[in-house]
Amino acid sequence: MKTIVIANHKGGCAKTTTALNLAVVLANQGSRVLAVDLDPQGNLSVACGADLQELESTRCTSHRLMLDVRGDIAAYRMRARPRLDLIPACLDHDAETLIEGQPVSRDLLLKNKLAPVRSGYDYCVIDTPPALRAPTLNALAMSDMTIIPIESSNFALVGLGQVMRMVSAVRKAHAPKMIIMALSTKYKPRQTVDREVRSQVEAMFKTNMFDTWVPDAAAVNQAVGIGKSVYETNMASPAALAFFNLANEIRERFGDEKVGLETIAGAESESSHAVAEEGRR
Ligand SMILES: Nc1ncnc2c1ncn2[C@@H]1O[C@H](COP(=O)(O)OP(=O)(O)OP(=O)(O)O)[C@@H](O)[C@H]1O
Ligand SMILES: [Mg+2]
Repeated sequence: MKTIVIANHKGGCAKTTTALNLAVVLANQGSRVLAVDLDPQGNLSVACGADLQELESTRCTSHRLMLDVRGDIAAYRMRARPRLDLIPACLDHDAETLIEGQPVSRDLLLKNKLAPVRSGYDYCVIDTPPALRAPTLNALAMSDMTIIPIESSNFALVGLGQVMRMVSAVRKAHAPKMIIMALSTKYKPRQTVDREVRSQVEAMFKTNMFDTWVPDAAAVNQAVGIGKSVYETNMASPAALAFFNLANEIRERFGDEKVGLETIAGAESESSHAVAEEGRR
C-alpha cells in the first residue's frame, strides 16, 4: 500500500476535492483504494456516503481508530464505491485533544492502526484538515507521497514555507522516502496571476511539481455539491481528464504501471469514450 497524503494548512485550496477525485479515479482505474478522512469537517466522508449525524453517535471515525488500543479496524471502515473503502471523520473535539495528549508514539498512531490492512490496498489517500496538528502529522508520518495543492491566487504562496518546513521535518523523522509534490489547483490558464503563481511554484519545487494542473471548472464544484467526483458526474470534462492524468503521473512516480484510457473499468460506456476523445485533442 502506497500512501498519498493531501496536505496544506491553507483553507480551501482543494485538498478534499483532490483527495476525493484521486481516490475515485485510482479505484476506477482498477486499484484497491483506502481513503482516510482526517478532517473533522467530514467533507470527504459526506462525499463518500457517510452520515455525519450517525458518525457522531457511533464514533467509528479515523480519530477514534487512532485512539482505540484493542479495537478492530473493520468497525471503522465503510465501502464508498467499488474497490474504494473509507475511514470517515466527524466533529469530535475530545478525540483531537486525546490524540495530542498521547504520551507514546503520538505521530505513529495511524500508521500502526493501518498496518494490518496494508496488503489489502494498492493506495491509501488521506485528506487532512487545514491545520498542521497531530492528525496531519500522523498522516505525514506514514506518507510515501505528500501532495501540496496550491490554489492559483495571490495569497497562495503565503505560509507555503511553513508547510514545507513541517513536511520536511516529519519526512526526516519518520518517512525518509517521502516524495513531496506540488499541484496547481483551480487553475485558470488565461489569467496572468495564475500563470505567475504556477511559475513561482515551479521555481520552488522544480521537478517535484505535477505537469498536470486541475482547471478551475464549474463541473468540479457542481460535483462536490452533490457529493460526487467530477469523474462520476462529467467524465468527458477537462477536469475529469486532469484527475485521470494526475493519477497516472502518481503511478509513474511510484514506478507503477500507468493506466490507459481504454482500460478504465467500464470503458465500454459512452462517457469514457468521450474522455478518450478529449485526451487525443
Ligand atoms: N478545480 C476546481 N474548480 C472549481 N472549484 C473547485 C475546484 N477545486 C475545488 N473547488 C471548490 O473549492 C472549494 C474548496 O475546495 P475543498 O473543500 O476541496 O478545499 P479544502 O482545501 O479541502 O478546504 P478545507 O481547508 O476547508 O478543508 C469547494 O467549494 C470546491 O468545490
Ligand atoms: Mg477539506
